[in-house]
Amino acid sequence: MNRTIDPHEAAEKLREQINRHNRSYHQLDDPQISDAEYDLLLRELQILEATHPELITLDSPTHRVGAPPLKIFEEVSHVVPMLSLNNAFNDEEVIEFDRKIQEKLDQDSIDYIAEPKLDGLAISLLYQDGVLVQAATRGDGKSGENVTENIRTVRDIPLRLTGDFPPLFEVRGEVFMAKNSFEKLNKRAEEKGEKLFANPRNAAAGSLRQLDSKITASRALSFYCYGHGEFPAGNLPTNQAALLKIFKKWGLPVSSEIETISSIEGCIAYYKNLESRRPTLDYEIDGVVFKLNDFSLQNIMGFVARAPRWAIARKFPAEEAVTKLLDIDIQVGRTGALTPVARLAPVFVGGVTVTNATLHNLDEIRRKDVRIGDQVIVRRAGDVIPEVARVVLDKRNPSSTPFHFPEQCPICNSTVEKMAGESVARCSGGLFCPAQQKEAIKHFASRKAMDVDGLGSKLVEQLVDQNLIQNVADLYILQLEQLSSLERMGKKSAENLIAGLEKSKQTTLATFLFALGIRDVGEVTAQTLANHFGSLEAIKTADEAALLETADVGPVVAKHLMTFFQQPHNLEIIERLRQEAGIRWDDVTLGENSSQPLQDKIFVLTGTLEKFSRDQAKKLLQLLGAKVTNSISRKTDYLVAGENAGSKLEKALKLDITILDENQLSELLRKP
Ligand code: IVH
Repeated sequence: MNRTIDPHEAAEKLREQINRHNRSYHQLDDPQISDAEYDLLLRELQILEATHPELITLDSPTHRVGAPPLKIFEEVSHVVPMLSLNNAFNDEEVIEFDRKIQEKLDQDSIDYIAEPKLDGLAISLLYQDGVLVQAATRGDGKSGENVTENIRTVRDIPLRLTGDFPPLFEVRGEVFMAKNSFEKLNKRAEEKGEKLFANPRNAAAGSLRQLDSKITASRALSFYCYGHGEFPAGNLPTNQAALLKIFKKWGLPVSSEIETISSIEGCIAYYKNLESRRPTLDYEIDGVVFKLNDFSLQNIMGFVARAPRWAIARKFPAEEAVTKLLDIDIQVGRTGALTPVARLAPVFVGGVTVTNATLHNLDEIRRKDVRIGDQVIVRRAGDVIPEVARVVLDKRNPSSTPFHFPEQCPICNSTVEKMAGESVARCSGGLFCPAQQKEAIKHFASRKAMDVDGLGSKLVEQLVDQNLIQNVADLYILQLEQLSSLERMGKKSAENLIAGLEKSKQTTLATFLFALGIRDVGEVTAQTLANHFGSLEAIKTADEAALLETADVGPVVAKHLMTFFQQPHNLEIIERLRQEAGIRWDDVTLGENSSQPLQDKIFVLTGTLEKFSRDQAKKLLQLLGAKVTNSISRKTDYLVAGENAGSKLEKALKLDITILDENQLSELLRKP
């Protein structure tokens, strides 16, 4: 007799089997069945759930294969902010970190925990009744993106925990891609002629930020946890070592390299040891993290700005490798600056294969006496562009000759000029040089400028090369038929570009001014000019004295502005952009009150700002009527705190003064 199988029971059984094999594979490193057999079990469960949707549970392992694509990621706010770490680049800085802790805590001995600094992306996982219910990226630390569907496909991350856990808590850790998975992924991409990822971290980030979680499921991502977010008070263990131990018990993966160490000397030895074993690890790390082990001591140390005082990241130094300099190409930038680029025999350094590196400028080539054919040392740190650090002189071919810097622009043959006191040489061809034309158009269309959707670098090059455009005004007379007839351009992309151009026409004066690409007029200066003068006409006709009255404008910038607005060619393009294309904005109202919205408010600036120099921020605030002082008092209205803010931040917190971060400052300075 045939016994009918209860689908509910069958699904439970399959899930139990799959979860057991997952644990053997991911936590115990002891697979009991082959990958094919595992896939078969998963497939069976998928079919069962497809025919009985009521059986699908949040923790079903079938989520591992991905869900229907999303339109956008939702925003998730972090109840406990996700912070960053301060860095130490040498042993002295680590010793200083310990000294400050000793000074404040006055303990007989202090336990640290040393962990690898994983090179991936920070993720927050929320478990409710042991089931993974939400996963979010770090974002700006206050809120990130909801990537739950994607995270469910990461096999290392348990969808359901085992053991005795609190009803709701948040785990934090790093999602990363193992070196071998990265190599396989790039190999497959290469075979298909697709774009390669630069390094495992980019590959992990690119894989996680996919709206289609099926793509994430096809990429092998890994995870280690290193901390907690929200956690019910009574349930938190007393220290980091104990926390990681229970995480492991509940089924969460923890790196096996983590150690508790009772002296800072021991921490330094740990760093040296891990640095020497770095190449043998199967995942990328960019340093180690030392944390005070005891949570109550962590609380006493507290935070400064966005980083804890109880932890420090000891970063590995930049990596170097030797290779042959095959050639030196000269690139021409937007302002005509000639940048020498080293073409190298491929070399693996800092986790990526490097074939190009910057040589900065003519003076640098002379100073380092870099010659084609030399063996050179290439250096790469983090995400920074690789550079040629120096030449291995012992290996130089005696018949080599110094590099001869071109006297004519390699693109348009115009004379190359070098101003006294400047290290940069420039093509004098201006906008007649196709290289400068292309770069000026790319800048105009870029995100922070006119933000023209659908107009990427490659397309700009194609349009200029085919003589369809020569300047930014020509963009707006492009016809759909012209665009669709371009190689690799479908009707849809052509329509998108036309729509993108149309959308870009409504802008602001500051954006337009920045988009023009006047030398040394960056976003902040453009904003200052717009706020000060109110209209393009006023800026165009301003003389040197008037320009110099603007905060942030010195004699050099004033000269660039006047030169730009004296060129008939530039005026003609501006006219075409406004009259023919219809680019428009609302002029900024310059009234007593409206231009001085921060009248008499007292600001103090502290810490390092990324977008502004301290001086720029000060001038911009003053322009809006604020007073900027150096020390915090009860009269202070706002403290602007950048990275590594210190005692001023503490004092402001005590006095209950409103604290702004850099983004909030930008917001405040942005006038219509
Ligand atoms: S602890 C408040 N531990 O490094 C401290 N972070 O530079 C928060 N990271 O955003 C972080 N390995 O993405 C911590 N063992 C580790 C880490 C680690 C990698 C990353 C993490 C964080 C960034 C801070």
